[in-house]
Amino acid sequence: MNFETEIAELREKLDQANHQYYILDNPSLTDAEYDVAMRRLVALETEHPELITSDSPTQRVGAPLEGDFSTVDHLLPMLSLQDVRGDEELLGWEKRIRRHLHVGDDIVFEYVCEPKIDGLAMSLIYQNGKFVRGLTRGDGRRGEDITHNLRTIKAIPWQLRLKNAPSLFEARGEVFIGRRDFEKLNAQQESEGKSLYANPRNFGAGSVRQKDPKITASRPLTFFSYSLGAYEGLKFVTHWESLQTLHEAGFRVNFEKSRICHGIEEVGNFIKEWDIERQKVDYATDGVVVKINDLQLQNELGFVGRNPRWACAFKFAPEEVVTKIKNITVNVGRTGSLTPAAEFEPVEVAGTTVVAATLHNEDEMRRKDVKIGDYVIIRKAGEIIPEVVSVLKERRTGEEIDFIFPTECPRCQTLVVRPEGEAVYRCPNNACPARLERALEHFVARGAMNIDRIGEKLIKQFVAHGLVQDLADVFLITKEQLMNLERMAEKSAQNVMNSIEGAKKPTLARLLYALGIRYVGANTSELIADKFGTLDAVRTATLEEISGIHDVGPIAGNSVRAWLDDAENQKILDKMLAAGLAPQESEQHETDERFVGKSFVFTGALSLDRRAAEAMVKRLGGRAAGSVSKKTDFVIIGENAGSKADKAREIGVTILSEDEFLEMIRQQK
Ligand code: IVH
Repeated sequence: MNFETEIAELREKLDQANHQYYILDNPSLTDAEYDVAMRRLVALETEHPELITSDSPTQRVGAPLEGDFSTVDHLLPMLSLQDVRGDEELLGWEKRIRRHLHVGDDIVFEYVCEPKIDGLAMSLIYQNGKFVRGLTRGDGRRGEDITHNLRTIKAIPWQLRLKNAPSLFEARGEVFIGRRDFEKLNAQQESEGKSLYANPRNFGAGSVRQKDPKITASRPLTFFSYSLGAYEGLKFVTHWESLQTLHEAGFRVNFEKSRICHGIEEVGNFIKEWDIERQKVDYATDGVVVKINDLQLQNELGFVGRNPRWACAFKFAPEEVVTKIKNITVNVGRTGSLTPAAEFEPVEVAGTTVVAATLHNEDEMRRKDVKIGDYVIIRKAGEIIPEVVSVLKERRTGEEIDFIFPTECPRCQTLVVRPEGEAVYRCPNNACPARLERALEHFVARGAMNIDRIGEKLIKQFVAHGLVQDLADVFLITKEQLMNLERMAEKSAQNVMNSIEGAKKPTLARLLYALGIRYVGANTSELIADKFGTLDAVRTATLEEISGIHDVGPIAGNSVRAWLDDAENQKILDKMLAAGLAPQESEQHETDERFVGKSFVFTGALSLDRRAAEAMVKRLGGRAAGSVSKKTDFVIIGENAGSKADKAREIGVTILSEDEFLEMIRQQK
């Protein structure tokens, strides 16, 4: 097969895989297969940069925005919905519809009920089937142009999958992050001693308004479409039909949790069901959107002010409850961080029973002035993690007890330390059983070693029975030892053994991540693995080499080097290798001395995608940087290059045009 055909086929394959995964929720390729195809495509495109097109799946991430977001008029205003609370207001809303249309109770309306996703409203414009612009809601009349960021979201198609692409097609919907992803991110922030994101909505808002699309791309955002905006050349009779077309066009539409209801009574039933159901789904919702299905009727109903008459948002009562704190306990994390938690009498919040809420850290507890015995207001933050909102001080009796933050680890009694400038106390004992349990949970997790037959319960047993004293011991467990554990039959023991055996060949990046080194998340692990290729090379790398990797930096670099220098850790790694652990080498790149160690900065509008250009540089041993300094070796300028080009001239850095750069790539040795 010639490479042009292969490139076309790979693009088709990856596009289809994206659609299956992100839109249909029905993956057609395994992660590994997807990875192989993507790597092959990057390799081919690096060799044949002239064949890179802006719609190749390798080009999701473009150049950072220079200057401010521009604001653009919406084709049709983005309105808001009238809120209704309780059955009475819902009936009142329908009554106004009847009055406006001059119809009596004998006419039964058809409604579409949809979950109201608590995310960020977006307008996505497609011209002749191509995604050309994405806007935030803004003030409803004009929004901010964040196309460069929305292009990185995999649930947003670049090309409509409709046969005869309409000249104009505007999809509207909500960008959001799933609850589980959000919790994972915050857990990671916490374990790295960083501040927590307040709620999924703020996190989403921050993510789509980044100047650098790389940051947006690194965040697990997704998109549900809930209506069409402006369009040409299409005809629909009902809203439901337009949703079907949106889905056919390649968008995620929440059909699974939406329904056509006949009459307001059915709407009421849907709302009651959804009030329970919404606790179980992976996104935060704050109500139900009820829409008249018939578009002709919608048209007749029109608007009152900024709200359509034909739709409303049924809002659930914000769930806050009062309860009494029975006790305050302290949990120990993987890095030894001590997190206080309030335990209270079981209470129902937003449909689930909660018995505890995090108090984050000592400073946070002081700020809220929480004592044992206090009555407090509990809320499910963003309807997700229960948190203590405030103390009802007027209900104090004087018998409340101050909580003294422990000076010893509650699990191993080692004196705790609070490093300067940090908000958390830590247990410094590397052998602390609580830390070991958390470290093991991280080690076996998906995305790390992926030993899926080992879960929290088994880990507790391993630690309690002394079967595992460090991460490496996981590989030394025998079937006999497993079968001696409570409730472990031969078959399950064999399954666990197979699962461990199957995890012995992780990628280097996953192994590095699994070790749980502070400040080393999945991304940093990838960068380090890519740079050094083998575990041996990482182990012998100098601090400068590690810290020098673009986007790794001194904090993570120091942490890695210190971890590797620790004699205990060295023993653990050797023990793992002796037990048969064989991390796969990361693909080693050909290098070219004109590129090795050299720093490249791309600026201005390039016809080549910035990420592809950066990938080429990296493949040949160079580094791509974001800003121009004395350390920069080459600046590649596109059209309208601004301050970076000026600076390059000023300090005398070599400036190349895009063509000159490509020439340099083609002359690869
Ligand atoms: S339809 C006329 N459907 O709720 C407005 N909106 O206050 C038509 N939202 O900013 C909006 N889920 O971003 C509609 N299934 C859904 C929705 C939804 C969430 C948001 C939307 C808008 C706000 C309305």
